[in-house]
Amino acid sequence: MTQQTIRKAVIPAAGFGTRFLPATKATPKEMLPLVDKPLIQYGVEEAVAAGCTDIIIVTGRGKTTMEDHFDRSPELEAALSTRGKDQLLELVRSIATLAHISYVRQPEALGLGHAVLMAKQLVGNEPFAVILPDDIVDAQPGCLAQMAGAFAETQATILGTEVVEGAAISLYGCLDCAPHPTNPRLMSVSNLVEKPRPQEAPSQNAIIGRYILTPRIFELIEQLTPGAGGELQLTDALRALLRYEKVYGYQYVGQRYDAGDKLGFLKATVDFALQHDAVGPAFRNWLRTQQF
Ligand code: UTP
Repeated sequence: MTQQTIRKAVIPAAGFGTRFLPATKATPKEMLPLVDKPLIQYGVEEAVAAGCTDIIIVTGRGKTTMEDHFDRSPELEAALSTRGKDQLLELVRSIATLAHISYVRQPEALGLGHAVLMAKQLVGNEPFAVILPDDIVDAQPGCLAQMAGAFAETQATILGTEVVEGAAISLYGCLDCAPHPTNPRLMSVSNLVEKPRPQEAPSQNAIIGRYILTPRIFELIEQLTPGAGGELQLTDALRALLRYEKVYGYQYVGQRYDAGDKLGFLKATVDFALQHDAVGPAFRNWLRTQQF
């Protein structure tokens, strides 16, 4: 069998972002900046760093600023050029050449599974990645690159996971899993439980917003019976996938922030600001002067 690599990444970005209202009433959550870069750009860069050449952004009504962000901007470029702001010009131009980016609309926010299904035609019959852009992972190499390395070994579906403490597991999809015989970061998955009660959780391994999926997932999403509100959940399709194929969990190395949530976003902002070349040192000094 020929060895497959991950060339395409799907980034679902059609949700309402209700946890971030009112900021997300007219602005996509995915365009909120961590210091000076929108969340979705971190996701695109992570996919590119993992070897993806094609990015498919699932978008929806009122979200066209994402398309403008990854496009050329002739007026802005001309203005920067006239003013001799060459570094900024280079920065602005580089965003439009990050990858080949396509957009597909999700007409209604009917859940993550439904959002992924919208990319079926553009993905075709090959394994692909899914990055949830509000899960920001600070890692070197990037989280998806780590998972792509594991995929080279398994050639099977891999779910990014992390160990969470105590009752927090009830906020996540949770893996029933066993250690892999040779790779300490991989786990063989036997079942998935969505948001279990803490006492019923089969493990403390939570699924995060990074996936490498085989294309069979599309037909399994199509076969799902819609849940509450007509939603199609990716976790349900993944559970069905277990009947046909191996599924692994991968404990990535790095720091994740739930930037779709106000507290997580604030933590990410502080940590990224402290690491930022231009503002980091001054921000650190300012923080030291503050009384908490
Ligand atoms: P979230 O559940 O974090 O996003 O989905 P949300 O629904 O926009 O946010 P809240 O819970 O209301 O605050 C993770 C990612 O999946 C996308 C979201 O845009 C987000 O990037 N998503 C979610 C879709 O594209 N379509 C959906 O139907 C649901």
